[in-house]
Amino acid sequence: MDEDVLCKGPLHGGSARSLKGSLKRLKRIMESLNDGLIFMGGAVSALLLVWVFWRIGYTNSSMEMEAELSVSPKCPDQCFSDGNSGTTGRNRVDHSVDEWEKSSENFYNNPEVTYTIGQPIRDWDRKRKLWLDRHPQVKNFTDDGKPRVLMVSGSQAVPCRNPIGDHLLLRFFKNKVDYCRLHGIDIFYNNVLLEEHMTTFWAKIPLVRAAMVAHPEAEWIWWMDSDAAITDMEFVIPWERYRDYNLVVHGWDH
Ligand SMILES: *[C@@H]1O[C@H](CO)[C@@H](O)[C@H](O)[C@H]1NC(C)=O
Repeated sequence: MDEDVLCKGPLHGGSARSLKGSLKRLKRIMESLNDGLIFMGGAVSALLLVWVFWRIGYTNSSMEMEAELSVSPKCPDQCFSDGNSGTTGRNRVDHSVDEWEKSSENFYNNPEVTYTIGQPIRDWDRKRKLWLDRHPQVKNFTDDGKPRVLMVSGSQAVPCRNPIGDHLLLRFFKNKVDYCRLHGIDIFYNNVLLEEHMTTFWAKIPLVRAAMVAHPEAEWIWWMDSDAAITDMEFVIPWERYRDYNLVVHGWDH
């Protein structure tokens, strides 16, 4: 385009018409030059902005890094152990809880307390109460004061033989999840055979045992068969009535 303008420009003694055309082209070049300048201006200010933000970010992160470096020689034994050392509450770790976690008072450290059946857990109420006392952030009751409940259900690990079986299991599970969501109940669904000799309906016993050990915060473990559905979504188990019982089995007069 430049060559075109130069060769046919007024210096080459063109007619008035071609002079007019050259002027037009010159105008176009000036316009595009103008656009280019505007574009360049925009690009430069954008780069400037990026640089400014990068500098700010860099300054902050290097400041953070310096802060971390100045703190780290004391870690992990001393830092954050007392709340008044200028650290924020978010970073505080209560090491006395850690000590307790490692002590024999914590039933999770007791080799006699196992997830598997065969060895009964003795003095469970006391062990559980100690654990709850040491973990006040884990509540054994819901927001409305009801006992914390963990519903447990499960089915076999392999697909159903009946082609519609897995579809029904999914629907039954969804029914339970909906009920639990409405009533603030936790739910666990198991697909693993925990004790090889305890298949079919026996499989629930090692599962309930494992759930009790894993969830000391639960006041009740509620076993429900995988092919059972709750039809009255508003039904609430009268927990108060069972307060003095350890095991409630459907089918007896109660
Ligand atoms: C929660 O546990 C405490 C004992 O640690 C007990 O006294 C209280 O009744 C329990 N709450 C419910 C709702 O069961």
